Amino acid sequence: MEQVKPEITAVLKEKRKNREVRFMFKVNENYLKLPGSYLFSTIGKKVAAYQAANPDRQIIRLGIGDVTQPLAPAIIDSLHKAVDEMSHAETFRGYAPDLGYEFLRSAIARNDYQDRGADIAEDEIFVSDGAKSDSGNIQEIFSLDNKIAVCDPVYPVYVDSNVMAGRTGSYDARTQTWSDVIYMPCTADNGFSPEIPKETPDLIYLCFPNNPTGATITKDQLQVWVDYANRVGAVIIYDAAYEAYISEEHVPHTIFECQGARTCAIELKSFSKNAGFTGVRLSYTVIPKDLKCGDTALHSLWARRHGTKYNGAPYIIQRAGEAVYSPEGKEQLKEQVAYYMNNARVIYEGLQEAGYTVSGGVNAPYIWLKTPAGMSSWEFFDYLLENANVVGTPGSGFGPSGEGYFRLTAFGSYENTVTALERIKKL
Ligand code: MLT
Repeated sequence: MEQVKPEITAVLKEKRKNREVRFMFKVNENYLKLPGSYLFSTIGKKVAAYQAANPDRQIIRLGIGDVTQPLAPAIIDSLHKAVDEMSHAETFRGYAPDLGYEFLRSAIARNDYQDRGADIAEDEIFVSDGAKSDSGNIQEIFSLDNKIAVCDPVYPVYVDSNVMAGRTGSYDARTQTWSDVIYMPCTADNGFSPEIPKETPDLIYLCFPNNPTGATITKDQLQVWVDYANRVGAVIIYDAAYEAYISEEHVPHTIFECQGARTCAIELKSFSKNAGFTGVRLSYTVIPKDLKCGDTALHSLWARRHGTKYNGAPYIIQRAGEAVYSPEGKEQLKEQVAYYMNNARVIYEGLQEAGYTVSGGVNAPYIWLKTPAGMSSWEFFDYLLENANVVGTPGSGFGPSGEGYFRLTAFGSYENTVTALERIKKL
């Protein structure tokens, strides 16, 4: 193919800049409204710049919630077996079924729902490649004039994906809020648990155990949200990615433990945090068939979207997901979760000893701390990076109510976690 000469490209660029050549296409201008880059990309760039300038420093990363422990042996065995199957014509698999393989969906329905008394059938489960993509994509099946409500602070994907769709109005850089988003502050005063908003939303994003605060709500509290959503005709998009870290009895493992959730809730679940699949990619979304807008079942809309835009998580990976529910898999993953929760304890207690105000870390792998001496979240980020060579996540990156807070993750190795806390205690 003939290459376009660089000088022609340069002339074209100049003409376009001067608007002498008409642009035939237009971009989705909603993207231009997004302030800055994705939180974890910004952090990644800052840390890379610091490391480049200080190559001898041993940086400990407790920022993004990325796992560090190897996949459990039961999962590795299953992966190997599935890879071997792909090498024989008789057992080779091509495209996966739209909604996921039956063997995985039935394991999910039984273990994560029916065994807990939650009424969810396997054909209400959609297997996918990540809760991040599902939580970003789910808004597509709703009208653009729906109003969303989010916790503040919040996992940035819920808001950003609605910005991209054009559902959030205009951005106020001073308050760091969007005009058409209902914010539900989660602060120390309310135990980091949202209150029913004054203005009625159409879509309510809830995440429990919570990212980033590590807080959670009881089953009774969640029931209040379910009753509210049914009363006002709203949908709750419930992100239960951290469910495996629940240690207390009264904390619900799924929103479908609540009465009436089948008519108002969608649940997102990830294999990233309970089974270390951040680099493997697997998740699922539950949409009960009773969840309807008039005669339209949201289940059918999501099925239509899935069928059109997605070819399913790979067979090999779905087999790995199945192993999560095997007796050996369950046992090994219980140990893995306990390993990370021991890190959570080390962080929580270490910070307390060092005089910090701390929460989270009991039903979640995140510890939420108040920045010391009135530092802003980003000031503390720089302070910790430069003086302890420890990376965390600034609370303000999750929303205005996160200002003055900071998140540390328990997903590091035990050794690094202990070293990080020793360094923090010396500050
Ligand atoms: C986080 O650190 O908040 C999460 O790891 C991000 C994610 O799960 O996408």
